[in-house]
Amino acid sequence: MRIVMIGSGYVGLVSGACLADFGHHITCVDKSEAKIDALERGEVPIFEPGLDAIIEHNRSAGRLDFSKDLAAPVGDADVVFIAVGTPSRRGDGHADLSYVYAAAREIAAAVSGFTVVVTKSTVPVGTGDEIERIFREEFPGKDIAVVSNPEFLREGAAITDFKRPDRIVIGTEDPRATEVMREVYRPLYLNEAPLYFCERRTSELIKYAANAFLAMKITFINEIADLCEQIGADVQKVAKGIGMDKRIGDKFLHAGPGYGGSCFPKDTLALVKTAQDYDSPMRLIETTVAINDNRKRAMGRKVIAACDGSVRGKKIAVLGLTFKPNTDDMRDAPSITIIQALLDGGATVHVYDPEGMQAAKEMLGPVTYGNDPYEIAESADAIVLVTEWDEFRALDFKRLKTTMKNPVVVDLRNIYPVAEITRHGFSHFAVGKKT
Ligand code: UGA
Repeated sequence: MRIVMIGSGYVGLVSGACLADFGHHITCVDKSEAKIDALERGEVPIFEPGLDAIIEHNRSAGRLDFSKDLAAPVGDADVVFIAVGTPSRRGDGHADLSYVYAAAREIAAAVSGFTVVVTKSTVPVGTGDEIERIFREEFPGKDIAVVSNPEFLREGAAITDFKRPDRIVIGTEDPRATEVMREVYRPLYLNEAPLYFCERRTSELIKYAANAFLAMKITFINEIADLCEQIGADVQKVAKGIGMDKRIGDKFLHAGPGYGGSCFPKDTLALVKTAQDYDSPMRLIETTVAINDNRKRAMGRKVIAACDGSVRGKKIAVLGLTFKPNTDDMRDAPSITIIQALLDGGATVHVYDPEGMQAAKEMLGPVTYGNDPYEIAESADAIVLVTEWDEFRALDFKRLKTTMKNPVVVDLRNIYPVAEITRHGFSHFAVGKKT
């Protein structure tokens, strides 16, 4: 099949590369000349484990190419995916669909013969209907079916998520489009990935409902963590104990500094707005959003409390900046708010992250960037673990004890065993447990 991916950002590149790996011919299109030039030189503009090898392999096999021009590849395509950004619109929190509609119009102008246009970007319910209206009214001669096919990739695990999905949701009631989409994902359902067909509006809502549910699950365990600290229970054991119930499940029950990233904050907000517009408010999600916003600042206060109530004039070493490990993405990362709270409290902040420091430089205030955990911890009053990169798991606490000014560890991801840290003479503060 000939498939075109409009938008070579995170979703477009990962989906394009993986579909090429399954034997389809893919052209990834992007308006950014710099991005396409880099990709043509073999440089992958995002950090995602395993992605560069898949891109390289499929480029040399002739199944994957890149283009700044949309018209030529779309003219030959069976399927065109729209994978452009849908950021929060400034001011009102709705998803900004201007890139989606602009892409749809350009696609419609270029297609020839029956073509399936698929929204892969996260789009509010009704966007498929609007695209269809644009096609019908502005391009009446064109034979196009509009399908919703949301993505459920997690950054840092995107290749596995694409190749071994729990499900593939496809929203269409058009029999021709159904056949085409079966063909696109045939290699995957041979791997027993379930294809789940439903109406287009239902499919669009599934994406938001899934992200909102996961955000709510994280927020629930974060509130349980706060309660654990007050009553002397251990949140990790509570999570394990409830997670063994299959109706609850053990995933997404890791208490921490609050969810961040390019998806949960934006999608929960957009769902809240849509629900309000339809006079069907989602109070659980409204509350989830509010609790999560407060939590990031509260984590700053937690660090200050761990430093005997004041960080003024103290040196704090922050390990991990990205919103989660294995990504260079800093969008809505809890580290931004936590560090601001520490700077506001008069601390000197030294930071280190394996991949996120370049992006962090545009987002953080006056902090010092170090080359490794030991360098930033030197003569520090506390270490604060914000993002659980693997390389922080096996820190040499014996060595740190000799170089830090005050042996204090605030572990906001609960990766360090209490006994191990205290054995080395550290004061240890975790999330959701009395230490
Ligand atoms: C999320 C969803 O998990 C994907 O299914 C979805 O496709 C994607 O959004 C999207 O809409 O594009 P992602 O944002 O990459 O993926 O990352 P997650 O692994 O879901 O983590 C999100 C945030 O929740 C991170 O800040 C993470 O640290 C936090 N989190 C996650 C917790 O605090 N506790 C947990 O137990 C799990």
